[in-house]
Amino acid sequence: MCGIVGYIGSKKATPILIDGLMSLEYRGYDSAGIATIEKDAIKVMKDKGRVKNLYNLDGIDKLSGTVGIAHTRWATHGKPSKENAHPHMDNSGKFVVVHNGIIENYADLRDFLISKGYTFLSETDTEVIPNLIHYYYTNGPVSVLKDESEKFLGAVKSAVYDLKGSYAIEAISTICPDEVIVVRKDSPLVIGKADGENYIASDIPAILKYTKEFYLLDDNEFAIIKSNNIRFFDNSLVEHNKAVKNIEWDANAAGKDGYEDYMLKEIFEQPTSIRETIGSRFRLGEKCSFDDIEISKEYLENVNRIFFVACGTAMHAGLVGKNLMEKLCHIPTEVDIASEFRYRNPIIDEHTLCIYISQSGETADTIAALKLAKSKGAKTLAISNVIGSSITREADYSIYTHAGPEIAVASTKAYTSQVVLVAILAMHFAEILGSSDKLEIESLKKDIIDLPSKIEQILDNTEPIKDFAKKIYTEKDMFFLGRGTDYSVALEGSLKLKEISYIHSEAYAAGELKHGPIALIENGVTVIGIVTDKNLVEKSISNIQEVITRGAKTLVITNQILPNNNFDYVINIPETNPLISPILSVVPMQLLSYYISKFKGLDVDKPRNLAKSVTVE
Ligand code: AGP
Repeated sequence: MCGIVGYIGSKKATPILIDGLMSLEYRGYDSAGIATIEKDAIKVMKDKGRVKNLYNLDGIDKLSGTVGIAHTRWATHGKPSKENAHPHMDNSGKFVVVHNGIIENYADLRDFLISKGYTFLSETDTEVIPNLIHYYYTNGPVSVLKDESEKFLGAVKSAVYDLKGSYAIEAISTICPDEVIVVRKDSPLVIGKADGENYIASDIPAILKYTKEFYLLDDNEFAIIKSNNIRFFDNSLVEHNKAVKNIEWDANAAGKDGYEDYMLKEIFEQPTSIRETIGSRFRLGEKCSFDDIEISKEYLENVNRIFFVACGTAMHAGLVGKNLMEKLCHIPTEVDIASEFRYRNPIIDEHTLCIYISQSGETADTIAALKLAKSKGAKTLAISNVIGSSITREADYSIYTHAGPEIAVASTKAYTSQVVLVAILAMHFAEILGSSDKLEIESLKKDIIDLPSKIEQILDNTEPIKDFAKKIYTEKDMFFLGRGTDYSVALEGSLKLKEISYIHSEAYAAGELKHGPIALIENGVTVIGIVTDKNLVEKSISNIQEVITRGAKTLVITNQILPNNNFDYVINIPETNPLISPILSVVPMQLLSYYISKFKGLDVDKPRNLAKSVTVE
């Protein structure tokens, strides 16, 4: 949520900052702003709306400063407006900050500052930060600090000490015009190191075209960044060295590559991203292996329960994982929404394995749920797409989907890669435990290897899906039905539709419909049925017949030859093992939501009210 960019070097900062914000816009897009250090003052320019509006601001082209910070906002405290947009300046005009996260005790801090004579221009929680920095700069322990730079750092540290909540902060000051100070807690921040210049961002892809060398800031770690040196400090301001990390992502992978939208590009990337996820983790005739984790038979034999914990789409990947773990490893498995798990006092001990799935690796609820399980003695395993993300740094074990950067807010390729990775993990555990028939696992491996070419077949024939989208895009309500694994993917199809088309939709276990929701079915309502498990075909079809009888218009996504054919539309997909069928059946649903959103003229990549990475509770 919210995106941060910073630059310090010899080039004009403004174009670099705006360009970086553009690529971070998926993190928040209700307002944006920049601040640069001009000759003797800090110039702040900001506005409501999209990042590109910054180009229209009077005088923005005249900024020539080579040090600057920038922000694209996803509103938490205060409506989207110019006043609430970042950067925020203190009353003296000497300190300016941008901030991601939430300051939970901002009301108390604001009252304190008001009692000291400070005034506020915005409704944000953030505005307390530059004023606190000013307060501590003017009231701090001056004598023990050597120079202005350390005095500035000392003031930032004292201000941050007062904050409760989550933050990634960039601060600049007229007092030290040649530096940017950064600090983070529970909100991501990276520093890109280049020759004679340094970059800052909340996400690696935003600055990947400038450098491949990154410092991943830790919680409660501070840095003073100058154009040709970076100093790191712990939360007692003791200086330390930090290792630089080489990031091998391809900068072009973060672009649109000729596609109209990131989401469409990412849907079409799935054959490639799945191949990357498989990587060298298994071959036919050989056991699965993970370079990144070592889990013993002795440990697994003592695991009596597995939890998948995640949010949104990642949680839906966990639902598929439950089936895989129970079928292949015979370990009882539960799936929890992270925001519920963290407050429901789950029964966890050292015999529990908690698996956390998060594309971004920065989702606040998922991180908190992970810390909770660790504190209760469980082992934790993170599945993420972002190397070095917060969740992977907290977990006992981390494995990566390697799906490449996912920019569109609506997750597509991350989901399919998460399911593939969970399937490989379940096979790996089953091989360690000897809990499944070898031939069964071998056949699942073959099915996983075949997934990319089967997705290509679906992507080669998108016209029928587009055609159906054209017929239904003006509707207000839709239903998704499925049984077993088809139900878990129905939930994902329904979420995708809501997110980017703003059409209300519900997903139901097909057999549950008659226990209430069938009352909502009336003439012309669209129902999408997913039927991929041959053992459940007849049951699922009966449920779809029940809605047809009540006037519903139906689209059926199937890999079976269906006994009757009174459906309005049928999308045929290739057959695969039912345990992993969501990886194929989700693709037509991703495309359906995409085309509906396009027909409605909506912004597919940046749906209203949503942000890519949910770093607040
Ligand atoms: C997916 O389309 C959504 N944007 C959302 O549900 C997302 O999956 C969820 O916020 C979890 O994100 P994470 O995988 O980065 O933790």
